[in-house]
Amino acid sequence: MDDKALIELAKQARAHAYAPYSGFAVGAAALSADGRVFLGCNIENASYGLTNCAERTAIFSAIAAGAKELVALAVVADGEQPCSPCGACRQVVAEFAVKRIILANLAGKSRVVTAEELLPYAFSLDNNKT
Ligand code: THU
Repeated sequence: MDDKALIELAKQARAHAYAPYSGFAVGAAALSADGRVFLGCNIENASYGLTNCAERTAIFSAIAAGAKELVALAVVADGEQPCSPCGACRQVVAEFAVKRIILANLAGKSRVVTAEELLPYAFSLDNNKT
């Protein structure tokens, strides 16, 4: 599956966003090494802090379905620039070592980044054990 097709799937997932509080809909699509694609959207809550971002919805769905290796993650929102993941999602992207992260907007702008570029010095128990 190429980046364009993965972005298209993320756009479709975005249509399911539940974002009555922010009005900002985000979609994501995670591609597993075995070719499966897992979709995610942001899911907000009246208790705002419980909101789950599109990226984490997609990644958690992939892991829950047994995906072992995520080779790409596309994220799409309707901003001027390609959608850039929040800090919590960056830590989750780092945890599962997602190989390529494709940031995109609805206007067709996109860029590809690595987990390391998104979150240098990510927290890990390995580098924090005493
Ligand atoms: N959001 C995402 O789903 N992914 C991002 O990369 C940035 C932010 C969501 C969280 C919240 O529902 C809304 O966008 C506004 O912050």
